[in-house]
Amino acid sequence: MAADFNQPVSITDGVYWVGAIDWNIRYFHGPTFSTHRGTTYNAYFIVDEKTALVDTVYEPFKEELIARLKRIQDPVQIDYLVVNHTESDHAGAFPAIMELCPGAHVLCTQRAFESLKAHYPNLDFNYTIVKTGTSISLGKRSLNFIEAPMLHWPDSMFTYIPEESLLIPNDAFGQHIATTTRFDDEIDVGLIMDEAAKYYANILMPFNNLIGKKLEEIQKMNLDIKIIAPSHGVIWRKDPGRIVAAYARWVEGKGDAKAVIAYDTMWLATEKMAHALMDGLVAGGCEVKLFKLSVSDRSDVIKEILDARAVLVGSPTINNDILPVVSPLLDELVGLRPKNKIGLAFGAYGWGGGAQKILEERLKAAKIELLAEPGPTVKWVPGAEDLQRCYELGQEMALRIKG
Ligand code: FEO
Repeated sequence: MAADFNQPVSITDGVYWVGAIDWNIRYFHGPTFSTHRGTTYNAYFIVDEKTALVDTVYEPFKEELIARLKRIQDPVQIDYLVVNHTESDHAGAFPAIMELCPGAHVLCTQRAFESLKAHYPNLDFNYTIVKTGTSISLGKRSLNFIEAPMLHWPDSMFTYIPEESLLIPNDAFGQHIATTTRFDDEIDVGLIMDEAAKYYANILMPFNNLIGKKLEEIQKMNLDIKIIAPSHGVIWRKDPGRIVAAYARWVEGKGDAKAVIAYDTMWLATEKMAHALMDGLVAGGCEVKLFKLSVSDRSDVIKEILDARAVLVGSPTINNDILPVVSPLLDELVGLRPKNKIGLAFGAYGWGGGAQKILEERLKAAKIELLAEPGPTVKWVPGAEDLQRCYELGQEMALRIKG
């Protein structure tokens, strides 16, 4: 029997997944975002009286995309190439597809067109700029576009096919996970929700307000959506409402009765304070996730912050500053601007101090409101009274979270 490589996957009659699976990627956006489970670059091919390819893949995976297209049609005929987003993981194979089908007519937003020309200045192609409300007929089906600027690039848009009740929203509702299964009913849903949360927290969190508005706008459009096919991870066909409801929760940032304590320590003094704070929070009825930053993955910590109400950050003072291993989390939080979080800084010092003020300034720069300022600070090692104070502050934080 002949080997059966690179099969497309049928989503509905005439709509196929033709993307690529990246089993090996462990960091995304350069070294920023850990992807322990790899990812997929999803592209979709619609075969009607005319054909349309929605998005491509990362350039090193172009042969996988082309092989899948050839399983459906050989020679491949692409009438329309929809570019929902021009980031390299989706438009990297754009030149290869234009070489394969030079007559393909590109459909994209104005900002996507500008980005394509900047990325591929020597490539000429026919194109139409589309906007929210533009509809292009393929025959029995139509491509309908919804601009989604800053979700998460200025060029981003969603493609909706009403005849299939199918929304193709590119990065929105995605998850970084490489699997041989393509649908939410073929995989542990807890696993994909966890990856979806990590994706939201690390990529989409700064755009909470815009996402909230976009969800409202789509709700008002009253679209019939039975399948959501994002550009990463599995396709939501069993329960697309689950991920939409999760997004509606995440945009609010209010979180559960949960706190994240992220810290590091030199000689365990700051660690003792972290544990006392945790005990107080737990006694107050809160779930706590405790992370020693030198042995924790920062993207995983940020995922846990997404649905937590409180963020407690601890560092001892070294050279009048915070420990270098604590700094990257705070840098990221300043950029991600988590919404509706309460913070507390804590730590030990030897003689001069200084870390506490830096921690508090960084938390405030991340728009995190402080429960107490200054938070608990201890010279040398915490004694019983110091630990009692941390415990009580943990309880106070629990009250605030639950109140
Ligand atoms: Fe998956 Fe914004 O690229």
